[in-house]
Amino acid sequence: MSSSRTSDVLVVGGGIIGLVTAWRAAQRGFATAVVDPEPGGGAAQVAAGMLAAVTELHYGEQTLLGLNLASARRYPDFVAELTELTGHDPGYRRCGTLAVALDADDRAHLRDLHALQQQSGLESEWLSGRECRRLEPMLAPGVRGGLRVDGDHQVDPRRLAHALVVACERAGVVFHRAWAERLTVTRDRAAGCVLDDGTALGAEQVVLAAGSRSGQLAGVPDEVLPPVRPVKGQVLRLALPPRYAPLLNRTVRAVVRGSHVYLVPRLDGELVVGATSEELGWDTTVTAGGVYQLLRDAHELVPGITELPLTETRAGLRPGSPDNAPLLGPTALDGLLLATGHHRNGVLLTPVTGDAMAHVLTTGELPEEARPFSPRRFRAAASMEQPV
Ligand code: GLY
Repeated sequence: MSSSRTSDVLVVGGGIIGLVTAWRAAQRGFATAVVDPEPGGGAAQVAAGMLAAVTELHYGEQTLLGLNLASARRYPDFVAELTELTGHDPGYRRCGTLAVALDADDRAHLRDLHALQQQSGLESEWLSGRECRRLEPMLAPGVRGGLRVDGDHQVDPRRLAHALVVACERAGVVFHRAWAERLTVTRDRAAGCVLDDGTALGAEQVVLAAGSRSGQLAGVPDEVLPPVRPVKGQVLRLALPPRYAPLLNRTVRAVVRGSHVYLVPRLDGELVVGATSEELGWDTTVTAGGVYQLLRDAHELVPGITELPLTETRAGLRPGSPDNAPLLGPTALDGLLLATGHHRNGVLLTPVTGDAMAHVLTTGELPEEARPFSPRRFRAAASMEQPV
């Protein structure tokens, strides 16, 4: 084993969640290191970047809604700070979202969503099919109604990841471009990790932020291993040729025959179409069926997409958790913290996760808004299930 290097905070995983944690920790004066073979990679390279706190609201997820809204509110200042510090613009676009319905079932689903949004005090407006087409003239004539949500915006996750890498570098974060092979535990305390090249890294506090792989790190005791699983999403990228008028002005989404489809238009002409949701373990194959489903559903919403070049097909893995909410903060193993399990909301939750993790690394306590997301909630639930 080669010689040990020690930091205050060692972040295992250099996706956007690990990066924002490292950046904020370094800003607080912690000597911080990140372990990842490819910092800035991971799910952010696939994600569309919708900031969809309101349009992705689900029954039973009101607590998560609070965190999602808190993060959405932080986005303008967060991207302004990142851009100023790094000179790299993460492509935040205040474009709003239109969720539309194509048939009676989809319309009933949207009506339910609208009712839930209203009960939750959120801003959304019901529009007729004609009003939807007035906003977005490229929508299919069959659109029967929709919800206008002016507060759900977008960011470009690839640009965000790049800006975060640069921000970390400028803040003095050390990158170890390797896989973390094993957590080191010394006297019942997380004490660092060993890399796949044998290098041993020591740390006062270790943050496990390895996305869908967070449950895989050897050496993590079973009782604190995060219950995170991979949820595959296939995503397509199309490109509007230069000088074309934009196809869409805002994100357009729908549930078509039970599957979610969304079209996220970037200012540079890229159109991101996502996403499947598949429980297939570690498989990241792009399949004919996945591409067909996305193109078929997107074409039903916006027939004009068939004219566009298809520039990329890719699959990524969301870090799913049992309640679809993230796991943030200390575990039952001293010195080991989690920042993982963000499932469908990793891009949206990046600003608030950075702030919450910096707070808990500094004070030992999660800030009020993040307390419901402590990993300990699963241990409490498990112990209540024990037979008496
Ligand atoms: N939040 C979008 C997705 O996970 O597909």
